[in-house]
Amino acid sequence: MNRKLILVTALILAMPLSLQAGAISDLQANYQAKGAGPFSAVAGEKLWSKSFTDAKSGKMRNCTTCHTADLTKLGKHVRTGKVIEPMAVSVNAKRFTEVKKIKKWFVRNCKWTFGRECTAQEKGDFLAFFSSL
Ligand code: HEC
Repeated sequence: MNRKLILVTALILAMPLSLQAGAISDLQANYQAKGAGPFSAVAGEKLWSKSFTDAKSGKMRNCTTCHTADLTKLGKHVRTGKVIEPMAVSVNAKRFTEVKKIKKWFVRNCKWTFGRECTAQEKGDFLAFFSSL
């Protein structure tokens, strides 16, 4: 194989990774600008399975309710039954490539699960956790 071809192939293979690193670090920089940080994957992991009681139904909810505790596994939406692709970047290259998508789901899922929006610190910790796997 000639060297140019090898280089192009290597670049293409590296692309999804750099997209993730880009979206995640852009968001974390944004949260840091708001005074949050440093971010911890361990704190993110704890928060991932921390349970909150839903005021209306009295049922316990956490992020694993739909995504499961093992981020490398398929999740399932607790209400619609729809399959949710794994969250771990190592098994799902499509994860965390779009800032807009990440922001949208943080708002929606934090509200549903915690009954409030997540803080900048919490979101930064979640992203540290997601990118550690
Ligand atoms: C009621 C079910 C449900 C719960 C509970 C839930 N999520 Fe999600 N989440 C989804 C769905 C559905 C999607 C969008 C489909 C997809 O990306 O596979 C999603 C996507 C996301 C994304 C976007 C990922 C990307 O690739 O950009 C993030 C971030 C996320 N969730 C974080 C969380 C966090 C943090 C919690 C806990 C506070 C949580 N989710 C709890 C259903 C849920």
